[in-house]
Amino acid sequence: MTTPLPLVIGNWKMNMLASQACDMARSLVDRLSEVEGVEVVIAPPFTSLYPVGQIINCSRLRLAGQHFYFASQGAYTGEVSLEMLRDVGCDVALIGHSERRSLFGEDDAAINKKVHRAIQMGITAVVCVGETLEQRKAGATLNIIETQLSKGLAGLSSERLSKLAIAYEPVWAIGTGVTATVDQAESAQDHLRKWLANRYNSEVSESVRILYGGSVKGANASELMRQPNVDGALVGGASLETESFVPIVEAAVELTSQKS
Ligand code: PGA
Repeated sequence: MTTPLPLVIGNWKMNMLASQACDMARSLVDRLSEVEGVEVVIAPPFTSLYPVGQIINCSRLRLAGQHFYFASQGAYTGEVSLEMLRDVGCDVALIGHSERRSLFGEDDAAINKKVHRAIQMGITAVVCVGETLEQRKAGATLNIIETQLSKGLAGLSSERLSKLAIAYEPVWAIGTGVTATVDQAESAQDHLRKWLANRYNSEVSESVRILYGGSVKGANASELMRQPNVDGALVGGASLETESFVPIVEAAVELTSQKS
């Protein structure tokens, strides 16, 4: 089985007006046109998805939705369906980001419905898990992330997991400038890999990419992604500027040959 390429996702969160997002997309297309050996995904806000999708259409960059509702259409004011995301060019969707969980009440049951829906529609689901600082201090990290993952993936058979990625994002590391140590990241991600192998099989556990997220930047990307179970990065703040995002992508490229 071939080792999947590393995956680097820029999560732009609620930043950039459409014109700024388009400028950023043009700049990334330009800077990353020669880059191989990595999959790069950007997740702009909804209002910029369509124009950004047009700009990156002929490039290797892929487009992701930051959120969606699991129904296809209907009276769900304010929500956006996966069909709508796909219509504007998304083939990746973030699911269960800690900001969605903590600020918007997204629970494991909703996350599970969304994962089923994404997989059914052939969209790459990036399921995010991670512990709070209190949970880490209480020694509950592995238990928490394993529970989040097992609830998020409930009812999915191994044949359906080819389009899955997981992002381990300790809540205390998101947007704080405090990155998990390489040992903290590797131990959590090794645990998730083993859980996948036990719950499914070794083929699934090796094919699912497990990303690290939480204050990733050019300066720490390489050492994080060098860990055997860190297959890429989910990047927030550092994905908002070309000059801070491109070095993270380049770090992933450099490591591709070494890890395969
Ligand atoms: P950060 O965000 O890189 O700004 O910590 C990561 C994320 O929330 O996905």
